[in-house]
Amino acid sequence: MSKLLEVKNLSTKFKTERGTAHAVRYVNFSIERGKMMGLVGESGSGKSVTAKSIMKLFDPARTTITGGIQLDGIDILAKKEKDMQKIRGNILSMIFQDPMSSLNPLLTVGEQIAEVFRYHKKMNKQTAKEETIKLLTLVGIPSPESRYKQYPHEFSGGMLQRLMIAIALACKPKLLIADEPTTALDVTIQAQILRIMKRLQHEFDMGILMITHDLGVVAEVCDDVSVMYAGQIVESGDVETIFESPLHPYTLGLMSSIPKLGERSKTLNPIEGNPPDLHFELNGCPFAERCKFKTDICLADAPKLKEMQEGHHVSCHHAEKIAGREAAV
Ligand SMILES: Nc1ncnc2c1ncn2[C@@H]1O[C@H](COP(=O)(O)OP(=O)(O)O)[C@@H](O)[C@H]1O
Ligand SMILES: [Mg+2]
Repeated sequence: MSKLLEVKNLSTKFKTERGTAHAVRYVNFSIERGKMMGLVGESGSGKSVTAKSIMKLFDPARTTITGGIQLDGIDILAKKEKDMQKIRGNILSMIFQDPMSSLNPLLTVGEQIAEVFRYHKKMNKQTAKEETIKLLTLVGIPSPESRYKQYPHEFSGGMLQRLMIAIALACKPKLLIADEPTTALDVTIQAQILRIMKRLQHEFDMGILMITHDLGVVAEVCDDVSVMYAGQIVESGDVETIFESPLHPYTLGLMSSIPKLGERSKTLNPIEGNPPDLHFELNGCPFAERCKFKTDICLADAPKLKEMQEGHHVSCHHAEKIAGREAAV
C-alpha cells in the first residue's frame, strides 16, 4: 500500500519586498499510516512553511508552491480552495502553537467544536453536542458538560491545547499536523499533552507530522524524524538510528544542545553563526559556513541526500568520514 503522505520535491517561494524568498527547497519525505514523524530544526528553517504548504494556507498571489503532495491518494496541490475547505479539519487537520489565535473568543468552546461536526458531518444540534462531550472526555478535559459552556479565556494553556486537539480530531483525520503544540507549555503539561497525542495516534491509527525545535520531544514520541535546515531536509531516518548515529554535522550540533537532566531548556542555537539568507540560491551546502567539517567541495557543490543505511538519508559530502569516526569511538 502507498504511504499516507508523500511529499516530493516540495518548493515554496514567497514574493517579498526584497525579492523572492525560497523558504522550502525541494523537500522530500513521507509518513506512513499510524506513524508519527518529527520535523525538527531551528527557528526559521522552514518547518511551518512546509506544514502550511501541505494545508495550502498561503495566499496564491504571493506564493508559489511546486512539487507533489499526495495525501491518501489525493493530489493536494491540484485541489481548488473550495475543495481544500472540505479537506481541512476533515481528513487533514492542524494544531498550532498558539491556540488562542485559532479560537473565537466570543463563542463557547462547546459551540466551536460542535460547529465542526455540523459543517463537516452535517449533524443536528443535539448529536453534535453529544459528540463534542465525548471528544472533550477523550482528550482528558474534566467535567466536560460544564466545560462545554465556558469561553476560551476560562481555560488554562494546557486545557486549551487539549481543546485544540479535540477540534483537530473531531472528524478523525488521517493526517494530523501539530506545529510546536507544546512549545508554549511548561514541562509537566507538555509531557501530558504529548502522552495524549501518542495515545490518540494509536487509537485513531493516525499519521502525525510533529513539528518541533526540541529533539527531546522527538525522542519522546516520534517514530521517524527529518531534520530541516535552511529550507532543506539534511538528514532523515527512524528515531533510534538518528539518535544513535547522527551523521549530518547540523544534527550532531542539535544533539549536543539537548539539555541534560536538571538543566534549563535552551533555545535551539547551539552552533555558531546564522543560516543563509533565503533570498539567495546557493551553489554549495547550505550549512557549509557553520560547519567544522567544511572543505572546498562543500562551498562549490550542493550535496544530495544519499542513503547511508536502509532508510537513513543524509546530505553531506563528508557523511562517510563522519560515519567512520563514529564507528571508531
Ligand atoms: N508568508 C511569508 N512570506 C515571506 N516569508 C515567509 C513567510 N512565511 C515564512 N517566511 C519565511 O520563511 C522562512 C521559514 O519560516 P518558517 O517555516 O516559519 O520557520 P520555522 O522553521 O521556524 O517554522 C523564514 O525565513 C520566514 O521568514
Ligand atoms: Mg514555525
